[in-house]
Amino acid sequence: MNIEKIRADFPVLQKKVDGKQFSYFDSACTTLKPRQVLDAMNAYYTEYTGCAGRSVHKFARRTEEEFAKARSKAAKFINAPPSEIIWTKNTTEAINLVAHGLKFNPGDRIITTNLEHSSGLLPWQAVAEKGAVLDFVLCSKEGEFNPEDFKKKLGRKTRLVSAIHSSNVTATTSPLKEIAKIAHDAGALVLADCAQSVPHFPIDVKSLGIDFLAFSGHKMLGPTGIGCLYGREDLLKKLNPMLLGGETIKDATLQAHVLEDLPDRLEAGIQNYAGAIGLGAAVDYLSGIGMQDIEDYEKNISKALVEGLLAIPQVSLLGPKDFKKRGSLASFSVKGMEPHDIALMLNDRNFFLRSGMHCAYPIHKFLGLPKGSVRASLYLYNSADEVKLFIENLSQIIKTFS
Ligand code: ALA
Repeated sequence: MNIEKIRADFPVLQKKVDGKQFSYFDSACTTLKPRQVLDAMNAYYTEYTGCAGRSVHKFARRTEEEFAKARSKAAKFINAPPSEIIWTKNTTEAINLVAHGLKFNPGDRIITTNLEHSSGLLPWQAVAEKGAVLDFVLCSKEGEFNPEDFKKKLGRKTRLVSAIHSSNVTATTSPLKEIAKIAHDAGALVLADCAQSVPHFPIDVKSLGIDFLAFSGHKMLGPTGIGCLYGREDLLKKLNPMLLGGETIKDATLQAHVLEDLPDRLEAGIQNYAGAIGLGAAVDYLSGIGMQDIEDYEKNISKALVEGLLAIPQVSLLGPKDFKKRGSLASFSVKGMEPHDIALMLNDRNFFLRSGMHCAYPIHKFLGLPKGSVRASLYLYNSADEVKLFIENLSQIIKTFS
């Protein structure tokens, strides 16, 4: 992978902040965007603005074509047919679409984990308020999924298992294929929150054998405001739309309506065309480099990050110590220092990281960190030199203040 060439594609990386170089280590929150994505989105606004599936003029037709191409790209990226992709605002909306769209009966069991992001937890809490029973698989202290606990928690009445694939806190990846097999044997459906996995390594939804998968464009070089729900077609057909409106129906009277076919019935109102087109361009960009190469590159720089953090005595790393068991982010706490204080001091030195709970309260509490952690999250545009400088700066800060 040619890191210099990649970095040259990102307009923001050509800039300085307060006259100095900066390092962006917050890609688990949102990623930077390459010129190719910005150009594709800009073209929609400057060359052919229109609405898909409505008007018959040339701009509308072009919008329809580009929108359909983007759906095919997003689908191919996870080895799904375009008919099984629904556009959403983000992962959160995709999970809510399933939680509110499936019919749960009182007493139906939903199993999730203590590793979930709020977007993979709160929608199920809302379903539980209407009578479903929610139970949790507890991970190890290193954030690893516990298949034995999972088997114990599964009962005959389990309708759905919802699991985060790669944790945005512990950097662990749960064994989705195994989870799907165990859940299916017990007659349950499986939904995976892949917001932190789809951007970083090859995902094949068919080989994983899961029923629903959610991911966001903005964590994979695309814009904010666009995400995808993958769902098996027979299951998507059973989802009750969360929103109704333009293009969701074939016909309406004053009293009633007939729902459209997929995907329109689940995509109410004017869509985020520029967003979808931008996500399509992001998929082209990542595929052009190759997801396997991206994963290998990230493993390399993550090794340096993990080893650097482990070498600082005051630092406690969350998740496994073996970099091979981790994704490309590292959350940590520092003895005697508050997470936000560390992030602010790093910010002063132009290292941009996230601190706090990372929208994942239960796992931080489980790990005894009520104030959360500091997190450095890397992507394909980060370099080994940046990681080295970061470790040096963090060490200096800790020496001075702890
Ligand atoms: N899920 C995002 C993060 O972990 C927002 O930062």
